[in-house]
Amino acid sequence: MTRHNLGPLETINDGEARRFDLDGRAICVVRIGDKVYAIGDTCSHADFSLSDGEVWADETAIECPKHGATFSLLDGEPQTLPAIRPVPVYEVFVEGDDIMLEVS
Ligand code: FES
Repeated sequence: MTRHNLGPLETINDGEARRFDLDGRAICVVRIGDKVYAIGDTCSHADFSLSDGEVWADETAIECPKHGATFSLLDGEPQTLPAIRPVPVYEVFVEGDDIMLEVS
């Protein structure tokens, strides 16, 4: 398990997503209020970056910018077609002022 400091929570605006490339993985980190979520950045339908999509704060989900599939930020499961496979979910939390992410 490797822990990464992704920097201050304030560097991601509320309701927005940012891509981080860590240990050869593209990870989409989303901030909703004071909470953060981290899922695989590559849509399971095709090779597009979920961090370019719209965050659906009320649903705790993000919409793929290409074809509109939405993914739960809680478990990575697709909630709408055309995606049918989940994306990975990563352990992420705020420690002090910083976003910490753990990758196994
Ligand atoms: S690439 Fe994401 S829904 Fe098609």
